[in-house]
Amino acid sequence: MKFKDNFLWGGAVAANQCEGAYNVGGKGLSTVDCMTGGSLNKKRVYTDGVIEGEYYPNHHGVDFYHRYKEDIALFAQMGLKCFRTSIAWTRIFPQGDEETPNEEGLRFYDDVFDECLKYGIEPVVTLSHYETPYGLVKKYGSWRNRKMIDLFEKFAVTAFERYKDKVKYWITFNEINSVLIFPQVPTGIRLTDKDNKDEVCYQAAHYQMVASAKAVIAGHKVNPEFKIGMMMIYPVTYALTCKPEDQIAVMEAMDKQYLFSDVQVRGFYSNKMKNFFQRDHLNLDITREDEEILKQGKVDYIGFSYYDSHTISATEKNNGSGNFFGGQNPYLKETEWGWTIDPIGLRIALNQLYDRYQVPLFIVENGLGAVDKVDRDGKIYDYYRIDYLKQHIEQMKLAVNIDGVDLMGYTPWSCIDLVSMSTGEIKKRYGFIYVDCDVNGNGSLNRVCKESFYWYKNVIATNGELLDFDDYKKKER
Ligand code: BG6
Repeated sequence: MKFKDNFLWGGAVAANQCEGAYNVGGKGLSTVDCMTGGSLNKKRVYTDGVIEGEYYPNHHGVDFYHRYKEDIALFAQMGLKCFRTSIAWTRIFPQGDEETPNEEGLRFYDDVFDECLKYGIEPVVTLSHYETPYGLVKKYGSWRNRKMIDLFEKFAVTAFERYKDKVKYWITFNEINSVLIFPQVPTGIRLTDKDNKDEVCYQAAHYQMVASAKAVIAGHKVNPEFKIGMMMIYPVTYALTCKPEDQIAVMEAMDKQYLFSDVQVRGFYSNKMKNFFQRDHLNLDITREDEEILKQGKVDYIGFSYYDSHTISATEKNNGSGNFFGGQNPYLKETEWGWTIDPIGLRIALNQLYDRYQVPLFIVENGLGAVDKVDRDGKIYDYYRIDYLKQHIEQMKLAVNIDGVDLMGYTPWSCIDLVSMSTGEIKKRYGFIYVDCDVNGNGSLNRVCKESFYWYKNVIATNGELLDFDDYKKKER
C-alpha cells in the first residue's frame, strides 16, 4: 500500500484566512475584507465596504503576513513537500483594474515562495480563493460582467510571469462549483430579488471558466512546465433511499457539479447541461469564441476538496449539511459543526473522478474543524484530528493501490489554524499548528505544534506507511 515516491504531501491555507494585514503593503479592499464575523448560528454578513464598529476577522487572520518565516520553518520541520496557498488579488491589483501591478504585493509573494523553496517546499498556488477586489464589485458588478475575464487573465499572467521560476503548480479558482450554493463568496455577486438566480450563477460560472481557460492557455505559454489545475468541492452524494427516484435526484444533482469538471477537463459543456439551460430558459451569454477558448484551455489536473458527504431525496426537503448541499446521513457521525465524517466517501470521490476523466487528481483540502483545548502542560492533544486524517489517508491508499487512481498529492486543510470561511471563527480549528488567538481576535498569536503535527511529520517521513496513533510516539521527537 504505497504512494508515489514524489507524492506531494503538504498542507493548505488561503491568503485571506491567514495573512491578515488587510490594508498593508498597498493592498486594496477585497470582498472578504467586508465580511463580518459569525458563528454556527449567526451568518456572516457582507457589509458595503468596511463599517466602523463591525468585527472583520480576516483583517487580522493569524498574521501570516508578518510571521511567514516562522510558519514556513515549522512547515519544513513537519516535512511538508508542498504548501498550498493563494495570492490575494488585491495585493497585486488593489482595485482590480490598474494598469500596472503593485510591486510591494508582488515582492511579498516572492519572499513567501523563496522561503518555501529554501526548504525544498513546492508552492501550490491558487489564483482566486474566495476573494474578489471590492473595486471590481463596485465598478463592474464583479462576475456579472464579461469584463472580469480579461481582468482576471491579466492578474493571472502577471503572477505567472513573475513567479515562473518559483511556482510550478497552479489552481485557477478555488471551489469553482460553490457558485451554485453560496454565490457571493466565490464571485462577489450580491443577488437581489429581481435576479433569476440560476441565470446569474451559471453566467458567472461561465465567465469564470472562460477566464480560467484563458489563464491556462497563457500559463502554458509562459512556462510549458506549469501544471495548472481546476479545483472543485467534490460533493459525494448518496440517495437517501433505494427508490429509483432518489437515484435520479442524485444523478441530476451531480450533473450540475460535473458541469464544472466537464468544461474544464474536457473543454465543452455536455449535451445534458445545454438541454438544461434551454429547458429552464436560461439566457446565457456563451459565444462561439468562448467555446473555442474552453476547448483550448483544458486543465492539467483536478484539485478538489473533500470534507464530508451528503444525502439526497427526490421527495424530502434537504436540510443541507457541511460545506455543500443535501442532508444528513443516519449511518455517519458529524463534527461539532454538523459536517458528516465519511472517510469511505473519499475513496468514492477519487474513483468517480478518475473513472470519468483519467487525469491526475490532487486532494487539496480535507480536514477536521474542531475546538482544540490547550492542556495544562501547554500541549494540544488533538487525537480526534489524527483519527480523522488517518482514516482518510487509509482510503486514499485503497483508491491508489486497489483501484488504480492516479493521485498526485494531499494537502490537508490547514497546516496552521486560521479564520474559518463559513463562520469566521478561529475556534473552528483545522491546523497542525495551534495559534493563540480567540474568536474576538485577542491573543499572543504564538504558535504551538499540536500532537497531529508530530503524527503528520511521521506520516510524511514514511510516505504514508505508518499511520497508527502510536507509530510516531515510538520515534524521538
Ligand atoms: C473550503 C474552503 O470550502 O472549506 C476553505 O476552500 C474553507 O476556504 C474550508 O476554510 C473549511 O471551511 P470552513 O468554513 O470550516 O472554514
